[in-house]
Amino acid sequence: MIQIKNLYFKYEDELVLNNINLRLNDSSYTAIIGANGSGKTTLAKHLNALLLPTKGTVIVDEIDTKKDQFNVRKNVGFIFQSPEDQLVHSIVEEDIAFGLENIGIETDAIKNKVRTILRLLNIEYLAKKNVNMISAGQKQLTALAGVLVMEPKYIVFDEPTTTLDNKNKRNIMGIIAKLNKKDKIGIILVTNLLSDIKYAENVVVMGEGKIIFNDKKSKLNKSILKKAGLDV
Ligand SMILES: Nc1ncnc2c1ncn2[C@@H]1O[C@H](COP(=O)(O)OP(=O)(O)O)[C@@H](O)[C@H]1O
Ligand SMILES: [Mg+2]
Repeated sequence: MIQIKNLYFKYEDELVLNNINLRLNDSSYTAIIGANGSGKTTLAKHLNALLLPTKGTVIVDEIDTKKDQFNVRKNVGFIFQSPEDQLVHSIVEEDIAFGLENIGIETDAIKNKVRTILRLLNIEYLAKKNVNMISAGQKQLTALAGVLVMEPKYIVFDEPTTTLDNKNKRNIMGIIAKLNKKDKIGIILVTNLLSDIKYAENVVVMGEGKIIFNDKKSKLNKSILKKAGLDV
């Protein structure tokens, strides 16, 4: 379980998160939706200690993100809005292996794990490709493979569909839904598109640094979305 208690966050002088309280259960699927600039990415980055609270706490499975960033990051994978930001090696399979190498896993075990993930995502054909020569959708799957190979308990996706065409959108949304349903990975999907919340069970709506709705998706209505400045 991830627990956020009385979280405030400032970039310099600007208050961007204003008293956020939120609980994300194991194996749940939560969409965080809000207009541009409402603080979604800032909130999402607190879930894996990429940002630390100015005030308040974020606790991931009993671990305070301020106290043990290494173990928090092991539990919570993060897929950036621009996958280029997280690709470090030039060959796909080397990139996917990077996190495992960092924690000292032996070479044969790494090879097996990477192969398994490539198969799971149906991207074996990308293994030897140069990451600079593949499409946006393929880059995103490579970034996801690099996260999955670490076997996280939760994965945060920051606007995963923005750079994709419809076919790749459907593919990634289907993969995310399956990771939740089949592999029981807790999903936090950040978006500003209503079409992206299709598979989520819970929805958090953000407006100007505050949570203005947090409930089952079935309880969401147009007036809340309008209040958040979203197109309905
Ligand atoms: N690195 C940063 N430094 C200063 N201000 C930032 C930074 N990142 C975001 N902000 C500001 O914080 C607010 C929320 O941004 P963000 O969390 O990226 O919102 P969203 O993801 O919902 O578009 C915006 O006003 C934005 O300009
Ligand atoms: Mg954002």
